[in-house]
Amino acid sequence: MKKLILIATLPVLITACASDPAPYNPLDEFEQVNPATMLESPESVPNNQFTAEQRERGRYLVTLLGCGSCHTNGALVGQPRADQLLAGSDWGIAYTNPLQEINPGVVYPGNLTPDPETGIGNWSVAQIVAMLRTGMDNHGEQTLPIMPWPAYHEIVVDDATAIAAYLKSLPAVRHEVPGNVAPGQRASSPYVHFGVYQSRE
Ligand code: HEC
Repeated sequence: MKKLILIATLPVLITACASDPAPYNPLDEFEQVNPATMLESPESVPNNQFTAEQRERGRYLVTLLGCGSCHTNGALVGQPRADQLLAGSDWGIAYTNPLQEINPGVVYPGNLTPDPETGIGNWSVAQIVAMLRTGMDNHGEQTLPIMPWPAYHEIVVDDATAIAAYLKSLPAVRHEVPGNVAPGQRASSPYVHFGVYQSRE
């Protein structure tokens, strides 16, 4: 099927090249993916710090709020890795318009398991609660609203604490996600973009 299309379009391409260079089509760089996948949230491990009720409530909320659909490796492109549930994504999300800029800014959803080096093992419960309510990270830096904290900011402290309790009780998974990429720099790991565009008129 592909071959047939190539043969059919070749003469057109050659004619186009002879007169004018083909215009840059940013969509050539992208293929459509279907990210919709049912995701399990991993079981937490009992400990002395949090009650079973808190951990279960947190697990329920994490599933409901879809944290894993961004923070699980492969989930953004419909292929979640079962061994990296909530352990961060090697696929990033573009936050400037990749249809206008060849090199958009890209953020990579982090590892939410308690691994101290690659995850959020060193975050306090209060810091995780602050992230959900205000988007402020553990260094006092504001994260972009791609992390949907504006949608979560009215979450009551008990629920946010239950999410923190659950995340802190997960088995730690060692997985370092790529660093964020500033607009204009070339991302060396793949990314997706979610687009909402308004008509010009
Ligand atoms: C639409 C995708 C998306 C969803 C859904 C999402 N996040 Fe995020 N999250 C991100 C991105 C992207 C970042 C990195 C933002 C940045 O670096 O500016 C992030 C960052 C974070 C961080 C900081 C991690 C770090 O290492 O700095 C935490 C904690 C976090 N998210 C928790 C959650 C929780 C808990 C949920 C569900 C209640 C959730 N996120 C849902 C995309 C998402």
